Amino acid sequence: MLLAFKSSAAPLNRRVYLALKGGIRDGRFAPGSRLPSTRALAADLGVSRNTVMLAYEQLAAEGYVLSKGRSSTTVLGALPPQPAVRPVAERVQQGLQVSAYARRMMQDKSLPPPAAAYGRRPGVRQDFRYGSAALDEFPNEIWRRLLSVHARQASRDTLGYAFPAGYLPLRTALADYLKRARGLHCDADQIIIVNGAQQAIDLAARVLLDPGDAVVVEEPHYPGATKTFEANGARLLRLATDAQGLDTAQLPPAAAGARLAYVTPCHQFPSGTILPLERRQALLDWAARTGAWVLEDDYVSEFRYEGKPLEPLQALDRQERVIYAGTFSKTLFPSLRLGYLVLPRSLVPHFIAAKWMTDRFSMLLPQMALADFISSGQFEKYLRRAGARNAARRQALVDALTQHFGDRVDIAGGKTGVHLLVWLNDVAPQDVDALIARAAQAGVGLYSVAPYFAKPPARGGLLFGYASLSVPDIRTGIRKLAELVPERRVRAKLSVG
Ligand SMILES: Cc1ncc(COP(=O)(O)O)c(C=O)c1O
Repeated sequence: MLLAFKSSAAPLNRRVYLALKGGIRDGRFAPGSRLPSTRALAADLGVSRNTVMLAYEQLAAEGYVLSKGRSSTTVLGALPPQPAVRPVAERVQQGLQVSAYARRMMQDKSLPPPAAAYGRRPGVRQDFRYGSAALDEFPNEIWRRLLSVHARQASRDTLGYAFPAGYLPLRTALADYLKRARGLHCDADQIIIVNGAQQAIDLAARVLLDPGDAVVVEEPHYPGATKTFEANGARLLRLATDAQGLDTAQLPPAAAGARLAYVTPCHQFPSGTILPLERRQALLDWAARTGAWVLEDDYVSEFRYEGKPLEPLQALDRQERVIYAGTFSKTLFPSLRLGYLVLPRSLVPHFIAAKWMTDRFSMLLPQMALADFISSGQFEKYLRRAGARNAARRQALVDALTQHFGDRVDIAGGKTGVHLLVWLNDVAPQDVDALIARAAQAGVGLYSVAPYFAKPPARGGLLFGYASLSVPDIRTGIRKLAELVPERRVRAKLSVG
């Protein structure tokens, strides 16, 4: 018998097993044929009989052969030939059997996101990516200690399955913080801990929407929400925003059957506008009148650089129509993957069941550390320090843009958050991608606003995340950008002259 088994670090019996299995699969050992006795094959290969017996036992256990005693081992039924693996794109094109949800999701050509969209960009020194973690000021030592205290106290409770709504001391600490510092109406039993605001949005879509349902969304919009609603089969009713945020006068009548409105009232994403009180009231009245739910995504308003953080919409809600979503991605760091929902009492059981269905519960160890971090006052202490850092960085960005561009840029939004939307009056929308490519060559990471608009905007615009860049890097980045964007007037003169 011709059996070549490869040299590798694997144990001998494993190598004999793999060689035999390969022979059976590619038809060299035909169905019905007999394999040599264990003794004969062992002698042939110069290995111990035990080695061959172990290989035969594994093949028998997996159904490749049938052994009767030590001397009779027969190859079992024919195996279908293995088709060559085709590339994913080809398989998708050829009508892969997937759900309607998956088909709707894949209609969005930007999904799945490429791996290159994450991590450091080679050669980019000043990266204005929105959402990058801001590492300075973070009390690493304290956080590490809290994690290790809980990791050391491992018990059945901490290592076993846990209640889907989340770790009770964290929900209690959060309820206390949200009531005291943010003015929310809530108790711990209305809070569910989730894996970031994205999971809050996903759970809301599962619990509240059926295919064909209408959802009111802001325009411009947050794609993490709109893509999720569309994948769930919802129809988007895009409502324009103006300098005061969502235009509530355009909210659809009850007959339109909107089931949900997804809003960012404390800092419209991405324009940064703040919804005034009368529009907040109009939105709540609309929800009460039509029976729609309101999903309030309060993703960043802890960072407000004039006065105190704004009271959320949920604080005004007397009819229990608002589902409030918060996250630690911008206040702490995104890889923590912790956020929370504050729910109307009537919806608590549905969301707990949906969380259980999705992933049982969020990882316990970070929840435990976070509970201590909040209840010891460290969280709010850090928010103050990070807020001062962010305010300085925001100011440096505004100053640098004003110094280099003057009235050639329009800066949108209030003094909140960790990003700015900037319109470049000298850059046509179709030229933004080329500008971004040139900036990358100069070591500056820039990002277009276009993905946040359903229809391409009339002006070229960029979204600047600033929280993770030092003030000198912000200044350098904007100086380099200014070198890449010549004034139109100058260009016009040059072309005439
Ligand atoms: C408006 C808005 N909502 C929600 C999220 C989701 O955040 P996460 O899932 O990290 O909590 C983001 C992230 O950038 C955001 O900008």
